Amino acid sequence: MNTAPLQGIKVVDFTNVQSGPSCTQLLAWLGADVVKIERPGTGDATRNEIQFDPDCPSYYFLQLNSDKKSLALDAATPDGKDILTRLIKECDIFVENLHPGAMDKLGFSWEVVHKLNPKCIYGTIKGFPISSKYANLKAYEPVAQVTAGAASTTGWWEGPDNVPTQSGAALGDSNTGMHLTIGLLAALCQREKTGEGCYVYQSMHNACLNLCRIKTRDQLTLDRIGYLTQFPQYPDGKFGDFVPRSGNQEGSGVLGWTYKCKNWATDPNDYVYVILQRGAKDFELACKALGFEDWLTNPDFNTADARDRHKQQIWDRIQKFCIDKTKHEVTDILSKAGVPVAPVLSTKEIMTDQSLYDGNTLVKINQGGKVGEFVTVGVPFTLSNFQPAYGPCPTLGGNTDEVLKSIGYTDEQIASFAKNGTTAPMPKTAAK
Ligand SMILES: CC(C)(COP(=O)(O)OP(=O)(O)OC[C@H]1O[C@@H](n2cnc3c(N)ncnc32)[C@H](O)[C@@H]1OP(=O)(O)O)[C@@H](O)C(=O)NCCC(=O)NCCS
Repeated sequence: MNTAPLQGIKVVDFTNVQSGPSCTQLLAWLGADVVKIERPGTGDATRNEIQFDPDCPSYYFLQLNSDKKSLALDAATPDGKDILTRLIKECDIFVENLHPGAMDKLGFSWEVVHKLNPKCIYGTIKGFPISSKYANLKAYEPVAQVTAGAASTTGWWEGPDNVPTQSGAALGDSNTGMHLTIGLLAALCQREKTGEGCYVYQSMHNACLNLCRIKTRDQLTLDRIGYLTQFPQYPDGKFGDFVPRSGNQEGSGVLGWTYKCKNWATDPNDYVYVILQRGAKDFELACKALGFEDWLTNPDFNTADARDRHKQQIWDRIQKFCIDKTKHEVTDILSKAGVPVAPVLSTKEIMTDQSLYDGNTLVKINQGGKVGEFVTVGVPFTLSNFQPAYGPCPTLGGNTDEVLKSIGYTDEQIASFAKNGTTAPMPKTAAK
């Protein structure tokens, strides 16, 4: 059995850049039939962004648009509106992530689409919740990170590097796409019961804030008691009335830090992350593995609360343990003893780890032509009875004729759409 979960689900994908396309790519990988609408002549903004070769789509585009069909369509022309209307009448899900107000201006708001096809689920991504005072802002990744508590709580809390810092993870972009996917799948289940599609509004702010939940936990605690025991600032530093940046301290109550290993001076990723759990038994295992048995009877260290008050001494001593070993040696020693530990891995180390090519974690897609094979991150979960087949990305407008025929247009009509600017750019002379 390899039945695709979304087999038979038709998606009209009016998204571009990263947030929306990451959602619709996942839908495609789960078996949905995804038609990506792209502006004739230009297409998705990422096609030509950060290119490795001027003749090839960028890896940015390739990693977000595999297994979709591309329909070149100017939805602002009368024919374009007619085509989009027909597509909407036949689809299960319509997704868009244009700037606030743009889809209404094009004439395809939720209300209009719902009237055209009451069964259609309408997914939309914007920067902020509708109620937000920032609701009209255009949004890219950093906009989400700086406004949802990610940047203000990430980075160093003192010294010249004490600046709001972005995560390398796409908390505002792909994370929003994954959140919207959850909403769309919930809406599909709901439609089974009601027979009607609903409006799924997903903001980048909501998606990022959802992952910053623990920072709101910290704010609540800070408001109550004025300090945060798990933070490096405790017990000697000062707390303000907001959650500060906490360097590499683990986000929960366990004590964790990043330690330099043997080759740190030449290898910027020869570091290891070591966690001391709060339980007495776990702490004992760690002390034995580290050779710090004296801590077991020392009241400055032998309870979790005491350790919170003496973090600096703990960090200094574990640092000494790590500095003459590689990250893999430290990982090996401590993991065997049951201590939570992991090496800091570079992107190169991750992408050359053959054990990750398991069919989903990292996948190789053969795009053909000058691009050849490229690697991407696959479906981020594994279903026991379904294996996605990862296919190439479409060329801009590569499926235009096929899609138009499937919704009933004749060859003559299709030819006229290409001439009147609906599915291909107007020739320069005619455009004057
Ligand atoms: C990403 C973003 C900042 C880009 O803004 P932008 O440069 O104005 O580009 P957009 O794609 O939104 O729209 C530009 C115009 O192209 C038009 N357009 C786009 N595709 C079209 C098509 N196929 N046919 C006709 N018009 C089209 C839009 O209607 C819009 O027209 P308008 O400015 O006259 O209203 C903005 O889309 C946004 O904030 N999106 C919501 C949040 C989001 O998803 N961000 C991306 C994170 S990866």
